[in-house]
Amino acid sequence: MRSLSLALFVLVCLAPLGLATAAGNTNARSASQLYRRHCISCHGNDGRSKTSKGKFSHARDLTEAQWQTEVSDERIFNSIMNGRNVRGNMPAFGHKLKEKEINSLVDFVRRLKRNGQ
Ligand code: HEC
Repeated sequence: MRSLSLALFVLVCLAPLGLATAAGNTNARSASQLYRRHCISCHGNDGRSKTSKGKFSHARDLTEAQWQTEVSDERIFNSIMNGRNVRGNMPAFGHKLKEKEINSLVDFVRRLKRNGQ
């Protein structure tokens, strides 16, 4: 009985450790996971921002070839970090995402570019 409660005690103590590691793993979430979690509601699965939230907030079509050509990585980074309210209402993600994660999202946004259009 004693060893059982000891085992339980150890388990209870170690459980938060397991949770902490699981939480730590969220740091390494891939760009597509981050996009799905934070961006898809407005920008949609395909980046064209045809969702109702995307239309409502005047989100930009991230696949647009001309915009992709003109915009710099720095500006994309800055818009995700600090938000942007020029033509619509893009929230800031600087407090939610790490610099590394924003950089991976910049690459992800680049890959949304529509080909041949
Ligand atoms: C609440 C809706 C909403 C969410 C959520 C959202 N966006 Fe946006 N996004 C917008 C709007 C609106 C704009 C247009 C902003 C403007 O130009 O004024 C925009 C613009 C952008 C731009 C173009 C910025 C520029 O400088 O032209 C990028 C890149 C972008 N979003 C990426 C993301 C990423 C990545 C996420 C997730 C981390 C995200 N967005 C989440 C609404 C949203």
